Amino acid sequence: MTTLGTPRSPQATRIMLLGSGELGKEVLIAFQRLGVETIAVDRYDHAPGQQVAHHARTITMSDPIQLKSLIEAERPQWVVPEIEAIATPMLQQLEDAGVVQVIPTARAARLTMDREGIRRLAAETLGLATSPYRFCDSLAELQAAIDGGIGYPCIVKPVMSSSGKGQSKIDGPADVQKAWDHAMAGGRVSHGRVIVEGFIDFDYEITLLTVRARDAAGAVQTHFCEPIGHVQVGGDYVESWQPHPMASAALDKARQIAQAVTSDLGGQGLFGVELFVKGDDVWFSEVSPRPHDTGMVTMATQWQNEFELHARAILGLPVDTTLKSPGASAVIYGGVDAAGIVFDGVAEALAVPGTDVRLFGKPESFVKRRMGVALAHADDIDTARRNAKEAASRVVPRQV
Ligand SMILES: Nc1ncnc2c1ncn2[C@@H]1O[C@H](COP(=O)(O)OP(=O)(O)OP(=O)(O)O)[C@@H](O)[C@H]1O
Ligand SMILES: [Mg+2]
Repeated sequence: MTTLGTPRSPQATRIMLLGSGELGKEVLIAFQRLGVETIAVDRYDHAPGQQVAHHARTITMSDPIQLKSLIEAERPQWVVPEIEAIATPMLQQLEDAGVVQVIPTARAARLTMDREGIRRLAAETLGLATSPYRFCDSLAELQAAIDGGIGYPCIVKPVMSSSGKGQSKIDGPADVQKAWDHAMAGGRVSHGRVIVEGFIDFDYEITLLTVRARDAAGAVQTHFCEPIGHVQVGGDYVESWQPHPMASAALDKARQIAQAVTSDLGGQGLFGVELFVKGDDVWFSEVSPRPHDTGMVTMATQWQNEFELHARAILGLPVDTTLKSPGASAVIYGGVDAAGIVFDGVAEALAVPGTDVRLFGKPESFVKRRMGVALAHADDIDTARRNAKEAASRVVPRQV
C-alpha cells in the first residue's frame, strides 16, 4: 500500500533527483503534484529542476564521497538518477546497506552509465539483436576491429557520452583517425575507451517507453506506450512524434525486446528503450532507466506523460499509458552562447494551432544547447510535426 505524506513535515515522502535538467524538472513537477517533498541535485546552481523543487543542492555527482554525504544527510526514501554521470558504485553500496532505494535499481543505474555494461547485457547475456560491436582502447585497436569484421560504414562512440557527443560515422579508412580524435575530445571521462558499431541501415528508429509499475494486487506489470518516432542529427534528437506507425510483427518484436531488457534491469519506473527497425527486423540500441528526451512529446500526447508515469511507478501507484492524441515535439536550441538570454516570438509560436511551449529556464545558453521544446497535438502526426516545427522556429532566443 502506498501512503503519501505532507512536505516539510516529519511524515513527508521524500525523493532526491540526481540531475535536474529539463527532464528532471518535469519529474519533479509530477512529484510535487502528489505532495512529495523533493530535493533537486545538479552540478551547477539554478538548474531547471532546482527551480521547482523544495530543496536545491549542488554537488559533483560523479564524486562518491560528495554523493554519499549528501544522501546520508538528506535520507530520502528514493534516489532517482536522471543522468548517467553518477558515482553508481556508491549508489550500489548505499542501496546494499539499506540506506536508500535507487530507481529503478542501483544495478540498472550502474549497467546503463556507460555503453559497455548495457550492450554486453543485451547482446551477450540476453541474446538480443544489436548492431555488431567491439570495444577499443586505442586507434590501433579501432582499426583492427573494423578490419576484423565490423567493416564500413560504422559508428564510433565514447563509452561514456550522451546526446551524440564524440560520436561519428566512419565511411572509409580515411575517416578512422578523425573519428578516434573526435571520440577522445567528446567523451565524458578521458579514459579513452570507445565502442565501434556496424552501421544499421534502418528504415526508422523508435523509442518504446516501457513502464514497470505495481498493479492493485502489488505485482509489477510491464506497460508500453505507443512507439515514438524521432529524428536525430549528429546523435542528438531534434524532433519526435507519437504514435509512429508500425507493422504488427515489428511492434511485437519491439515489445519483446523491451520486456526482456527492462525485466532484467528490474525495479519500478519508466524506461526509454531505443530500437532500430527495418521491415520486420528490430535491433536493440540502448535503454535509459528513466524518462527519455524524445518522450517529451508525451506532454502533448498522453493522459499521463512519461514523467508522471515515472513518478507514479516509483510511488507504487497504478499507471495508464493510453494515448490522448497524435502529436509531435521539436527542439528549441539556444542559437547563441550567452547567459540570461531572452526569448522573442513565444506568442507567435503559440498562435500555431494545437501547440504548447516549454522553456527550461537554463541560466546559460549555448548555440547547440537545448533551451526549450515546442509541442503539438493534431489529428495526424504529419500535421503535428509541421506545427511543432513551425512553433519551435518562431521562438527566437536572443542575447541582450
Ligand atoms: N549502429 C548504428 N547504426 C545506425 N545508426 C546509429 C547506430 N548507432 C547510433 N546511431 C544513430 O545515432 C543516434 C545516437 O546514438 P546513441 O543513441 O547510441 O547515442 P547517444 O549519445 O546515447 O544519444 P542519446 O543520449 O541522445 O540517446 C541513434 O539514435 C541513431 O540515430
Ligand atoms: Mg540514444
